[in-house]
Formats: sequence, structure tokens, C-alpha cells
Amino acid sequence: LRPDHVRNFSIIAHVDHGKSTLADRILERLGAMGERDKRDQTLDTLELERERGITIKSTPVRLTYTRDNGEQYTFNLIDTPGHVDFNYEVSRSLAACEGVLLLVDASQGVEAQTIVNAYLAIDNNLEIIPVINKIDLPAADPENAARELEDVIGIPASDAVLASGKAGIGIPEILEAIVERIPPPPGDPDAPLKALIFDSFYDAYQGVILFVRVLDGTIQAKDQIVLMNADKGFEVDKVGTFSPGLVVGQELSAGAVGWVAAGIKDIHDAQVGDTLTGKELRTTEAFPGFKPAQPVVFSGLYPTDTEDYRKLRDALEKLKLNDAAFTFEPETSEALGFGFRCGFLGLLHAEIIQERLEREYDLDLIATAPAVVYRVSLTNGEIFETQNPAEFPTRDRIKVVEEPYIKLSIMLPEDYVGPVMQLLQERRGSMITMNYLGKRVELLYDVPFAEILYDFHDRLKSISRGYASMDYEQTGYREGELRKVDIMVQGELVDALAVIVHEDKAYSLGRKIVDKMAEVIPRQMFPVPVQATIGGKIIARATVKAYRKDVLAKCYGGDISRKKKLLEKQKKGRARMKQIGTVEVPQEAFLAVLSTD
Ligand code: GTP
Repeated sequence: LRPDHVRNFSIIAHVDHGKSTLADRILERLGAMGERDKRDQTLDTLELERERGITIKSTPVRLTYTRDNGEQYTFNLIDTPGHVDFNYEVSRSLAACEGVLLLVDASQGVEAQTIVNAYLAIDNNLEIIPVINKIDLPAADPENAARELEDVIGIPASDAVLASGKAGIGIPEILEAIVERIPPPPGDPDAPLKALIFDSFYDAYQGVILFVRVLDGTIQAKDQIVLMNADKGFEVDKVGTFSPGLVVGQELSAGAVGWVAAGIKDIHDAQVGDTLTGKELRTTEAFPGFKPAQPVVFSGLYPTDTEDYRKLRDALEKLKLNDAAFTFEPETSEALGFGFRCGFLGLLHAEIIQERLEREYDLDLIATAPAVVYRVSLTNGEIFETQNPAEFPTRDRIKVVEEPYIKLSIMLPEDYVGPVMQLLQERRGSMITMNYLGKRVELLYDVPFAEILYDFHDRLKSISRGYASMDYEQTGYREGELRKVDIMVQGELVDALAVIVHEDKAYSLGRKIVDKMAEVIPRQMFPVPVQATIGGKIIARATVKAYRKDVLAKCYGGDISRKKKLLEKQKKGRARMKQIGTVEVPQEAFLAVLSTD
């Protein structure tokens, strides 16, 4: 392996701009997969990923490229997750590279994630090869896309390679650009070992498998290593490369991308961003920018069937083995019984975990509304962090509450600027800047994180007819007048329904929740009152009406097939119901706060 004949790179793009398709085309061209076992999107492995069409977990692959003159190059293509929840993982994957292909869909132009990803690459001092993709589309406007790249990110339009992953256009040009424009990895194979962990997964037999980029030194089996931030030592069992799939090798040296197995049992000891070095011959400095994985969105997960509690706990433990960013601890709710308070990197991460629990572990769950982490100072001097509305103090005990903020970036056609600005105003946002790029606009806003958890993305998409895209990063904490809104059903407080909200919005949110609940709770033989309260004071109420006799007659007097259908529907609905007092409350009610109106 000659380091000057190695190229480590990644492909970055806005969602749906064709990253997986292009990666597959490159793999196919370099013979990394036979036609027969060719699957649509090879790099996206999880079944869920395939269905949602988004990349969650990075899988590198090693390829051999032979130039026309016979020179051979080793390419390490490092895939990156395609969602803001995983931006830290993206930044670490990029830190393992010297260059990127920055894809832009020729019919869409630069989008919010194009910009954020490009800046992640620039921050890591990477060479950027702009690729204008999907030029086969009738609506493609490659000149415009290239001009936008130049205007927004400052990448010369003349550098752009025109391509289509689907039609197989521009692939030889891309391969040549990788060799010519991306520098070979620097590094000294004789210096003390220094390797960056950019991903990891748990294997039941070998323990945690680390995906590493070696910056300096060499690593092989039997080496004594130390994970610098975790401050833990291990002995290396095996090292190897990806081709794709894990292939055992002799050693990994400066410039290499590969994997290391060292009998590490706990994935929390081997976090993304940590630096691996030798026990005896230590590097002086760890790789900069390490951030321990920290959940920022929390939600309660409860089995609909209380018998499933242990099954849920076992499933959560299994998922946690492979996911250092996911946390859970037992929680008890008066309304929902025994469950778990779970922490996630964001809403998508939360959805993925919940879906896996239901699908792979066959559990029926009730999830409570997601919440962010608040910093609370009480009048008695006590200070604590909480993400659980049930623990949130009443107004008289609060000295100061701080909430997390984000810098939100939105790209949209200028026609929709007015309504989008109004939406941001409703969400307590304040504008940082607004940049015009021809007929499109980039809006940068300061917004409380909690405000985008509730149906923000859906609203943004619907008011911009799908044209707006967004991305964000967390920026820190600021004071806010936050209150807890409690919900009562039939006069009983339902702790799991409480939400934390800004004072100015408490009334409208309370109204929205009770209205939605009155809509989704099935009618009973008697009217059921639903109320929203703050500190015991009722701020909104609604009523689930009782069945009327003629409605009943209509339902049950009809023909047999209709009746059957109805019963079936009821049965299905029942799986995700919780008995509260004498009333059955469906899952939708617990997420009433999230509903789009
Ligand atoms: P994420 O994994 O969500 O980031 O998406 P992606 O960027 O990997 O996009 P993907 O490759 O899954 O492609 C998205 C859609 O665009 C799919 O429907 C593809 O078939 C289509 N597509 C990808 N490349 C091309 C192309 O070159 N031309 C055309 N016409 N369609 C393409």
C-alpha cells in the first residue's frame, strides 16, 4: 500500500440528491459488486434505511481503481449519514477523509443540507469536487446549479463535473477527479499510533468493531492500545479493511481506513470521535473536536400491554449495545404504568428506535411527546436539568429556566418567504440574516429547539409546497418563560400528557391538545371532559361526546360485512390504547401536541 496511491473520500449531498445511486454506480464501475447480488442501494444496509431512503449508518468500502495508463489506486469511500440528527457522525466521517464529492441535483440546485455539508467539509480542510448530478432529468439546469454553488459556497462553477448516477454519465470523469484533485493522505507510519474512530458497531462475537482512519503510526493484532478520551486500554485482536464487508488484514498504517476489533464490550467506551493510540508509544495530542454522544430529545416509551415491560427492557438493552447515543432509564407514570424515559439525538433517531422496537421486537408502544433538556434554577437555590415535564416545577418555585436554541437554515424560493417568516415568528424565531441567490433565498434564524419539535418540518413543507429545505445546529441555552401544561381526562390528571411550553403559547397549545384529544378519544356511553391546566388553573376544555342512540343503531344494525370491518378496525385500534380511569385513550392522544392543524 503506497500512501501516495490512496484516496480517502466521502460523498455528501442534500437528501435525495442521489448519493446512494452515485455511490452504487462507482462501486459497480470498480467491480465491487457482481451484477447478481447487486441490490438497489448497497451502502444503505438497514432495512429501515431502504424503506425510508435515507442513510443512517456509515459503511466504508475499499475499491481499486486502475487508470488508463495502468496505475492502480486504492479508494476508501466513506459513506455518511444523511440527516441532521447525525451531523456529528458526518463531521467525524469527513475528518477521516481528504476530499469529498459534493453532489447537487441539477433540477433542484443548492439546498439547506448542501450548504451545511459543504461547510462541514470546509471546516475539515477537505478538497471539494462539485458534482452536478441527475443531468439526465428533463428539468435539469446544470448551469444554474453550478452558479448557485459558486454564489453560496464560493466553489468555482468551472470545477463542476456533470453527472448522472442513474444514467451512468460522468463516472470516468469523477474517478479521474478523485485521483487528480484529492490529495493523498499525509502521515508518518513510524510515528506513535494515532487513529480516529469515525464509526463503530457491536458484534456479538468480537465485541465492538471500530471503524478507524489511521493518521500516524501502524496498528496490528496483539498491539496494546488506549482510547484517549475514554482512558481505557485494550489488546488488538484483529484489524482489516472493507471491501465491502469486513476483510481481515495484517496491519493498518498511516493513511489507511479500516476496522479494529479489540474485545471491547461496551460501545460507550469506544465513541465516535475518540482517538486510538499506543499504550507505550503514545501520541501527544488526541484528535481535536471529540464530543461524547449526548441525547438532546427525550420521550417516554411504554408498552401498551404491561406484561411486555421486561420484553421492552431487554429490547432497549439490545439496541443500546449498538448505539452509544441512545439512553434509557426506568420511569413510572401514574397513567401509563412502568416504562422508560429514552434519550435520542433527534426526532428521526427517536422514530427509528421506536420503529425498530415495534418491528424487530414485536412490541406495541405508547410514546409520549418529545421534549428537550431544560436547565432549571429554583428560588431555593437548587439547580437541575430536566427533560421530563412530570418533573417541571410550578411557576412560583422557578427562578430561571433556560432552554436550548438552534441556528436554523432554510432554503426556499422567494415566493414563499412571507409565509415562512410568519411561521418562524410563530415559533419564536428571530432572524439572523437573509441572503438572496437569484430567485431563491437562504434564511438564517435563531429558534428555540423545542419549537421545531412540534410539526415544524411538516408545516414548512406544506406552506412552501415542498420547496423549502432546512438544516440546523445547536447553539446554546437562553432564558425563557416556560410553563408546564397539564392535561386532565375525566377529572384525572394524566401525567404522561404534560408538556412544557412558552407562556405566550400555553393557552393556544392547551386548546389544541384538548381539541385533538376530544377528536381522537373514542366515544363512550357518557360524555368525557378533557381539560388543560396550568398550576391547577383550567385554561382550555373540550368534551368527548357520548354515543347517541341512533349512531349506535346505524353502526350495529347494518349488514354483516360492515359490522365485521368495524370490529376489525376497533381491534386494530385497541393495540395502541391505554386505559385511563374508565376511558381508553389512543396513542394519537399522547402525541396530540405534535399534530398538524
Ligand atoms: P439519502 O440517502 O436520503 O441522502 O438519498 P440519496 O441522496 O442517497 O438519494 P438516492 O440515491 O436514494 O436517490 C434519490 C432519488 O433520486 C431516487 O429516486 C433515485 O432513483 C433518483 N436518482 C438518483 N440519481 C439520479 C440521476 O442521476 N438521475 C435521475 N433522473 N434520478 C436519480
